[in-house]
Amino acid sequence: MTVRPLHFNAFIWPNGYHESAWRVVDDDVHGVLGLDYYLDIARIAERGLMDAIFLADTLAIAEYRVTHLPQTQFDPVVVLSALAAATSRIGLIGTGSTTYSKPWELARRFATLDHLSGGRAGWNIVTTVTPLAAAAFGEAVHLEHGDRYVRAHEFVEVVRQLWDSWADDAVVGDRGRGVWAERSRLRDPRFHGEFYDVDGVLPFPRSPQGHPVLVQAGQSTAGMGLAARYAELVFATPATLEASKAFRDNLRVQVAANGRDPDQLSVLPALMVTLGGTEAEAQARARHLEELASAEFHWQNTLYLAGFDPDDFDPDAPFPSNLTEKPAPSSLAERLIAAARARPEAPLREILRDLGGGPGQLHFVGTPEQLAEHIIAWQDEGGADGFTLMGSTLPYELATFTDHVVPLLQRRGRYRTEYRGRTLREHLDLSRPAGWGL
Ligand SMILES: Cc1cc2nc3c(=O)[nH]c(=O)nc-3n(C[C@H](O)[C@H](O)[C@H](O)COP(=O)(O)O)c2cc1C
Repeated sequence: MTVRPLHFNAFIWPNGYHESAWRVVDDDVHGVLGLDYYLDIARIAERGLMDAIFLADTLAIAEYRVTHLPQTQFDPVVVLSALAAATSRIGLIGTGSTTYSKPWELARRFATLDHLSGGRAGWNIVTTVTPLAAAAFGEAVHLEHGDRYVRAHEFVEVVRQLWDSWADDAVVGDRGRGVWAERSRLRDPRFHGEFYDVDGVLPFPRSPQGHPVLVQAGQSTAGMGLAARYAELVFATPATLEASKAFRDNLRVQVAANGRDPDQLSVLPALMVTLGGTEAEAQARARHLEELASAEFHWQNTLYLAGFDPDDFDPDAPFPSNLTEKPAPSSLAERLIAAARARPEAPLREILRDLGGGPGQLHFVGTPEQLAEHIIAWQDEGGADGFTLMGSTLPYELATFTDHVVPLLQRRGRYRTEYRGRTLREHLDLSRPAGWGL
């Protein structure tokens, strides 16, 4: 059987993805606010020959969060630009919102990162779940789930046209003729759609990858529809191997129905990992993190991730019945509403405790050998093309993965032993969009 090489994306989060991570690591608590923290992780991921590092973006934080865990929501593209200078191969994926950005400025930011990194940029397309973003951006309303995704299609379409607004051969640098670039090799999108009007080429030539790699994480029908149309890397979090296989199969069918090659898509489920030299050690580390976890944080955070403002809720009362009639702000909220309908008298706290879901719901605890087997099993069953690794603590889990899991995967012939390309597209075996005019 020939297997495609695995792909890995390292999710960077302050001190680790587990909410208690910051309480167990030795680092200075302010360290996560400095460039060195990000540099250290990027270098470990690059040493592990990973495809990319990833930075999330949430645009507005609910204030309950500052009590429970470090808040370091910098602008991801700014951080990644700094990392581009200190790394040479690792892909740099940042998040950008289609609901709270303008297509021209977002296209420019990510194409800038692509130029500065020599073709290593990726854009995680999100529609922004939290309603708090509306107030932060001075908007009267936060658009509903379905409307956000309808707009997102048009938004991505415009961005792609902007990335193509210079032909690859536009710059001629003809000193004799005094022509730096051929004006005839520009193509203004002159886009006039239902939501966006965009005239004007980008203010610099086409970037090394043509288009930064398009990434998506939505799991709702609308989210998968957006991914099927555009995404080249998807990091969803189905709860089980069976669910992940069904998700990946379904997405590949939808990708083909959009006239695209399903092999031009990597599905890298988000997997939180806690490692130890022995299984007992890994279990003890995971248990310690859980013992420190806060039940208060849990109910608030699940509401926040689902797209609600936790301050509006009483955890000891039932889920407000009027909210079950309104459109759900996310697929997680859909599950919450279904659970609340099934148990209308139950306190919200109990419903949320039993709900699960969210990016950290898949949690692997074990040794490097066990993790290597787990990864291979998921790949062989068709549940994943690799993983988005969320170290429960950082940098420990990522360093352990690089030093102890990577060699096992390499020995099994599942993982690269060196970077063959320079761009993120090359790492992911993605073709470069042709653009126009050549
Ligand atoms: C691993 C992972 C990372 C995500 N990162 C972000 C993020 O940085 N910013 C954001 O607004 N949403 C993020 N999301 C949320 C998704 O983009 C999406 O909005 C959410 O899953 C709800 O969409 P859905 O209803 O289509 O599932 C992330 C989701 C996952 C699973």
